Amino acid sequence: MRKNLVVLLLLLSVSIKWAKADEGMWLPYLLGQQTYNDMVKKGLKLTKEQLYSINKASMKDAIIIFGGGCTGEIVSNEGLIFTNHHCGYGAIASASSVEHNYLKNGFYAKNRQEEIPSAALSVQFLVRVEDVSKEVEDALKGLNGAERVQKEQAAYNEIITKTTANTDYEAKVVPMFKGNQYVMFVYERFKDIRLVGAPPENVGKFGGDTDNWEWPRHTGDFSIFRVYTGKDGKPATYAADNVPLKPKYFLPVSIKGVKENDYAMIFGYPGGTNRYETSYGIKLKTEVENPSLVNLRDVRLKAMMEQMLKDPAVKLQLASSYAGIANYWKFFDGESKQLKQHHVLEDKEQKEAAFAKWAQDKPEFASILPDYAAAYKAWSPYAKHRVYINEGILGSPVAGFASTLLAVERALVTPGAPKDAVKQAVDAADKARVAFLQGENKPSDQKILAATCRMFYTDVPKDQQPIGFYEALKSKFGSLEDDNTYRLWSAALMNNTMIFDDAKWKAFVANPDAVTLQEDPAFAYASTFIKNYAGKYQPLFSQFNLKNNDLGREYLKGVMQMQPNANRYPDANFTMRLSYGQVKSYAPRDAVNYDYVTTMKGVLEKYIPGDYEFDLPENYADLYKKKDFGQYKDAKRNDVVINFITTNDITGGNSGSPVINGNGELIGLAFDGNYEALSHKIQFDSQYNRTICVDIRYVLWCIEKLGGAKNIINELKLVK
Ligand code: ARG
Repeated sequence: MRKNLVVLLLLLSVSIKWAKADEGMWLPYLLGQQTYNDMVKKGLKLTKEQLYSINKASMKDAIIIFGGGCTGEIVSNEGLIFTNHHCGYGAIASASSVEHNYLKNGFYAKNRQEEIPSAALSVQFLVRVEDVSKEVEDALKGLNGAERVQKEQAAYNEIITKTTANTDYEAKVVPMFKGNQYVMFVYERFKDIRLVGAPPENVGKFGGDTDNWEWPRHTGDFSIFRVYTGKDGKPATYAADNVPLKPKYFLPVSIKGVKENDYAMIFGYPGGTNRYETSYGIKLKTEVENPSLVNLRDVRLKAMMEQMLKDPAVKLQLASSYAGIANYWKFFDGESKQLKQHHVLEDKEQKEAAFAKWAQDKPEFASILPDYAAAYKAWSPYAKHRVYINEGILGSPVAGFASTLLAVERALVTPGAPKDAVKQAVDAADKARVAFLQGENKPSDQKILAATCRMFYTDVPKDQQPIGFYEALKSKFGSLEDDNTYRLWSAALMNNTMIFDDAKWKAFVANPDAVTLQEDPAFAYASTFIKNYAGKYQPLFSQFNLKNNDLGREYLKGVMQMQPNANRYPDANFTMRLSYGQVKSYAPRDAVNYDYVTTMKGVLEKYIPGDYEFDLPENYADLYKKKDFGQYKDAKRNDVVINFITTNDITGGNSGSPVINGNGELIGLAFDGNYEALSHKIQFDSQYNRTICVDIRYVLWCIEKLGGAKNIINELKLVK
């Protein structure tokens, strides 16, 4: 028995080490030999230089930042981009009207002329990367806190200016390992991006928020764009006679399909992780921050959905904003649950105990954990207040817009401010108001305003609330315990603010004065809460943040000294990363096994005609019945594979990333993570973590069979 236990423990420790190998968001330009060897062992057939090279065209040249927070890849020698449907969502919605509803019905350009310019979009190619640690650290020697942050910015700017002078490039310096290393990324940005194709929403977002962050999944989460350049091949703003980009590199597309344990590699831009988060941070997150955010988003989402269901024009108007709020509403709820489920807090506490022991006789590190504890203790009483400002008070779009008018007030009340400053601030507000009104849906906003104002009253400690606000509300509108009070108040605010009243607004713009602004009910509301927060609590938050910055850097420095031989990757920070793993099934809970693929059979099993989330295009079921799968059929299953899962380590920002096989061919697009591993920003779980990918064969089936756009297929380099 005892012997067996030893053997079992040995086996366990071996298997844990082995399984851990798929953790990691590696910097491709710094790919270590140990990491590369493991990639080869798992099935990679390419050289390091084929993945990333400074001199020659390599795979990294096909990977782009798409818009502000997604990844895309170039898939033809005419600048064709594949990304996710949820990444192109805003652009597709903007290109749509109730009459030409591309979001609802899908869209494919049959030729270049039909492609739709997407003015709000741009994409960035990575030109080069440089370690600038020495320069930055020389500038920051011995600095901590606010001083360090200021100097840091100045040091970055100096390096950036030097680098980009006389070029069209943009550069960014990014701290790695919480400021133990600094890396500069140089980008080329292209601004003429056109929509080429998208499936109907009931394919591209099949399963909606019910299926979001979940496996098994059946979503065709892809959309297609194209990069255009000036005739000289350089970035240019939109012009009808711009030409398709001639890329340095584009990905071939394999339609051979996936098997369990196949090698899978993902290049892309993971937005953020905090894998060295402390137990203190996890406690605050799960006890205060996440539940507050979830409750506040819940009321916002309900109010928006009510209006979206009533009117297709409102649906188009709010769809993108709704999707963004819903996505992280579910994420943060699931994150708290999975942090508990996987005992991440206890695990962190153990790690911290080991660190404390190691650090006890090292003056540089001995006080880090006690200092952390003190910093969290000082800030925690106000943490809820902060979330209730950002997600509550400012969660109402009109209050959010009103809060931007603080800049106008500042210009108006600053003694001796130049006339110009007022005019500039007012002009900016006037422009911003046009954009705000375009996105504004008053009926939902009015409800959000009422609900969030009440929640602030109920949930935020009374001694932190703005003095006099709720007393005044009570005396004018009734009991603070009655929803109707807040309803009357928000209706009055919406009716009386100049933000919705063209005549009043124009008069103000023509002749701005502080009193008119301060008496505006929307401005008064937003500014009361913001000033209360900014006066007393924001300084505490800044202090907390600065302390956290310094402690995080020191803590990680210590951890790296304590375990000098660990193969480490820096936390995600929206810089290009490479992750590798394998196609793999998993068991989410006792007695349940999940296959590593889903099929079209499963799409039809989920199909609910007329449903908001599980409807399908009219011809879909027919095509399925006829088994019209063409070259996209999976031979083993005699069906089309819809989605598959891999063990790759990715996170938000990776959306749209190419999933690439051992030969360097595109086999899918990464679009989500699974529910059982929603704790992944804090800790990678090697048993449960999966990346959810749309199989490229389904993407091509949707384009050709469902969408009839063979022209797009013809442009690809297919590997059969
Ligand atoms: N969870 C996905 C991500 O963050 C977004 C999926 C969008 N779909 C949706 N139903 N909201 O990348």
